[in-house]
Amino acid sequence: MTAPTTPSAPIDPTSTDAWASLEAHNLELTGSLREWFDADPERAQRFSADAADLHVDLSKNLVTAETLELLQQLAREVGVEAHRDAMFAGAHINTTEDRAVLHTALRRPAGASPALEVDGQQIDEDVHETLQRVYDFADSVRSGEWTGVTGKRIETVVNIGIGGSDLGPVMVYEALKPQAQAGLSARFLSNIDPTDAYETTRDLDPETTLVIVASKTFTTQETLTNARLVREWLLQGLRENAGLTVEQEKEAIAKHFVAVSTALDKVEAFGIDPKNAFGFWDWVGGRYSVDSAIGTVLATVLGPDTFEELLAGFHAMDEHFATAPAEKNVPLLMGLLNIWNVNFLEAETHAVLPYSQYLHRFPAYLQQLTMESNGKATRRDGSLVTTETGEVFWGEPGTNGQHAFYQLIHQGTRIIPADFIAFATPNHALADGEQDVHELFLANFFAQTKALAFGKSAEEVRAEGTEGALVAAREFSGDRPTTSIMAPKLTASVLGQLIALYEHITFVQGVVWGINSFDQWGVELGKQLAKGLAPAVAGDEQAISAEDSSTSALIRYYHEHRQQ
Ligand code: F6P
Repeated sequence: MTAPTTPSAPIDPTSTDAWASLEAHNLELTGSLREWFDADPERAQRFSADAADLHVDLSKNLVTAETLELLQQLAREVGVEAHRDAMFAGAHINTTEDRAVLHTALRRPAGASPALEVDGQQIDEDVHETLQRVYDFADSVRSGEWTGVTGKRIETVVNIGIGGSDLGPVMVYEALKPQAQAGLSARFLSNIDPTDAYETTRDLDPETTLVIVASKTFTTQETLTNARLVREWLLQGLRENAGLTVEQEKEAIAKHFVAVSTALDKVEAFGIDPKNAFGFWDWVGGRYSVDSAIGTVLATVLGPDTFEELLAGFHAMDEHFATAPAEKNVPLLMGLLNIWNVNFLEAETHAVLPYSQYLHRFPAYLQQLTMESNGKATRRDGSLVTTETGEVFWGEPGTNGQHAFYQLIHQGTRIIPADFIAFATPNHALADGEQDVHELFLANFFAQTKALAFGKSAEEVRAEGTEGALVAAREFSGDRPTTSIMAPKLTASVLGQLIALYEHITFVQGVVWGINSFDQWGVELGKQLAKGLAPAVAGDEQAISAEDSSTSALIRYYHEHRQQ
C-alpha cells in the first residue's frame, strides 16, 4: 500500500485569483439582508443545507450567491479537498510533529472497508480492540462486578485531566447527563489550584469512588499533581474509614485508579497497573480525543451504547464532509464563511450560542478546539501568515446571554458573527404546561437571529411613537451575520455530529490560512517557565532576584502575604 501523500507547501491565499475577486466583490457588494430577502423569496432555501441530522441555515450571513461561489473557488485554489482527503487517508499533515491526523478513524464503524492501514498500523483493528476493552471495563463498573477495594459498588467516577483530556468529556457528560446510569455519576478535576481537588473530593466516599487519570502524554503537571493529591485523599480515607493497611494499598490503587494515555510506560511508573490502562495513539490530538479512550468516563457513566451512538454521529458528519458536493457541504461552507467574516468583514470574534442548557460547556470546549488549532501566525512551511487567523470563539447558552452580552452583538460597533443552535424537542419529557415554556424558549431563538439580520429602522421606531434622540438609541442596524443550526433533538448522535462539524470547520480554516491546525507549540513556553520558576516561588532569594523586576516583585508579594 502506498503511503498517503502530504499536500505540498501552503499556497498563500492572498495570492489566489479567488482572493482578489473576493476583495473586489466585497467593495462592490451592495444591499442588505432585508433587501436580499425581499428580492429572493427562496433565499433561506437556497442558503440552507442538511448534514446528517443537522439543518443549517446560512441565509442570514452577509453573503450573496456570488460570495459563496468565490469562497468555494478559494477552497479549490488552496487545495482544501486534497488536504481533507490526505487527512482521512493518514498523511502526515501535522508536519511540525511529523504525524498523521486521524481522529476521523476513531469513529469508523467496525469492519469498514477498505481497512485503514497507516505507517504499518492496522488502524481499525487497534481502534476497535481498545473500544472493546473500554466497553468491557465500563460494563463491569455499571453492573457492579467491578467494586472498590472494600467490595462496595462504584458510585462516582472522577476524571482527572486537562485541556482535551477534560473539556471534551465534561462537555459531553453535561450534554447527555439524562442518560447517566442511576446511582452513577461523573466529576471532573482539571485545575492545579488545590481548591479544585478539594471541592471535587470533599463530599465523596473513597470506598465508592473510581478515578480515571486521563492524559495523552502522562507528563502534564496539572493532571499528575491532581492524580497524586487524589491518590493521597483516597488512601487516607480508606485508612480512616475502612482500616486499609499498607499491604492493601497496591490493591486499593488497582481497584480505584485507571488511566487513559498514549504513554503506557509512564502510567505504570505512576503506579497504575497497565492492565487498567486504555491507550490511544499519537495521531489523535488532545483536543480531538473525546471519541478515543479519553471518553472512558463517558462510556462508563453514560454507557457503551450511548458512546457508540456518539461515535456514529461523528462518523455521519465525517461522511458528509468527505462526500457532499461543495455547494452543500456544511463544514466546508461554514469554514469558508468564517474566512469571509474574519478576513474580509474584519470580524475578530465568533459567538456560539446554544439554546440548550445541556450544551452549556460547548462554547468552552470549542475554545480549545478552535483556538489551540488555529491561533497561529506561521504557516506549514515556516513562513509568516499573510492574513489574520484564528478568531476568538466564545459563548454562553441562550437565553442567559441575551441578558448579558447580546446588547453588544445587536448595537455595538463590532461585527460578531454568531452560530445559534437549537433543538425541536427537549431531552426530557415535558410536564403539563412545560411545552409552552419550551416554545417560549424557541421563540427567543428565532427572534434573536431575526432581530440581528433585519434590525429596526428609524421609521419603524418612529411609527411606534418614539421621537427625538431616543429614535437613534432604539434603532437597530441589522445586517449582523448569524448561522442557525437546528436538529430534532440533542441525542448522542446529534452531539457527535455537532462536534465533528466544528472539527471540520476548524480544519477548513486552517487549510485556507496555510497553517498546521494540529500542533500547539504556543502552550510550551508558559509550561517551561512555570517549571523554571519553582525555586523562586519556593523562596530562593537568589532565584527571585534573577527574575525581571515585575515577576520578582509579584513573587515577593506572594511571600509577604501568604499565611503559613
Ligand atoms: O494545552 C496543551 C495540551 O497539550 C493540550 O493540547 C492537551 O489537550 C492538554 O495539554 C492536556 O495534555 P495531556 O492529555 O497530555 O495531559
